[in-house]
Amino acid sequence: MPDKNGFPHFMLKEIFEQPQGLRDTIMPRISVQEGDVHIASEVRIDRHELRALKRINIVASGTSRHAGLAGQYMFQDLAHVFADVDYASEFEYRNPPIGPEELAIVITQSGETADTMAAQRLARKKGSRSIAITNVVNSTVANEADGVLYTHAGPEISIASTKAFTAQMAVLFLVSMYLSQVREQLSRESSLRWIDELTALPEKTEATLRCADTCRELAQRYHRFEDFLFLGRAVHYPVAMDGALKLKEVSYVHAEGYPAGEAKHGPKAIIDEDLPVVMIATCDPNDEGSKVRFDKSLADLRAYKKQGAKIIALASEGDNQIAKLADHTIFIPQAPELLAPILEIVPLQLFAYYVAVAKGLDVDRPRNLVKAVTQE
Ligand code: BG6
Repeated sequence: MPDKNGFPHFMLKEIFEQPQGLRDTIMPRISVQEGDVHIASEVRIDRHELRALKRINIVASGTSRHAGLAGQYMFQDLAHVFADVDYASEFEYRNPPIGPEELAIVITQSGETADTMAAQRLARKKGSRSIAITNVVNSTVANEADGVLYTHAGPEISIASTKAFTAQMAVLFLVSMYLSQVREQLSRESSLRWIDELTALPEKTEATLRCADTCRELAQRYHRFEDFLFLGRAVHYPVAMDGALKLKEVSYVHAEGYPAGEAKHGPKAIIDEDLPVVMIATCDPNDEGSKVRFDKSLADLRAYKKQGAKIIALASEGDNQIAKLADHTIFIPQAPELLAPILEIVPLQLFAYYVAVAKGLDVDRPRNLVKAVTQE
């Protein structure tokens, strides 16, 4: 059993290991000078097949599926390939009309989740190629895939997945960038810019971890609340989903992740002083779409404040609007939209961890959960 290196729990240790996990996952696969992503030997699908690709089917469970949801935005924005995301446990039931010219990407920390394994087998039986993204070398899902990309996050012991999640999103970004380079959809200039942003991620994650004390204080203040609503737009919505899942997994608090725009069509009815709202309201000032979404988040915050909501917001460093509206604001370093989720999940992991600690729960071995569900 690995050591906790002086941390009280594996979950906290693994949260703080994310900068190194990202460094080990990203740096060996990129060339900073050329701006290239070098993963052909891991993808093991030749270039003309990747050029002919019509659709990507991402299949996974739990936190890995949330990484897949973020990957969907990366594949569609960068590589302009239609990408769909499925719960592995539901995949076979929808009898997916898939076949050649389609790629199944299965994401699994353990590589042994039965639903994900079955989904990969079904996709391959229907003629689709498959790539596995996993954290365990020679796991079953890895050994049954055409291509394999390992997340080098190191062994993940705590049942709630943290460092594997950020490494999975980094790998998905690398695959979408590689695909867009193979399909000649990314200029050299853009490639170099994205490579710069990727190399800056580990340090920005280190900077984000400095919010740990703020997250502990917020957990002290909010650990008696019984319901939470996490909201995010676009690629930030999967972060809201996983923030809610972390809280459920380790602190047994009911929490829901929801697309912020969709909240107006129902959940808004339950927002009041008893339902804290966690809003991901970061903004990339170089991205017009991001600025439009930011303004919508501001309008939401104003509306929810009128309903008496207590608001915990994630904002980008340098923002001076969100903090005027939210009860509590956690600032994270600036990052482009598609990479911001890798930073945004960190405070939500820490908040869930400290709520569980404040409730005196067994953080690493939450009740009724296992690290890998090996039975369907
Ligand atoms: C659950 C774990 O059993 O399986 C979650 O408790 C995890 O943390 C999910 O996200 C999926 O696991 P894997 O290994 O397929 O990513």
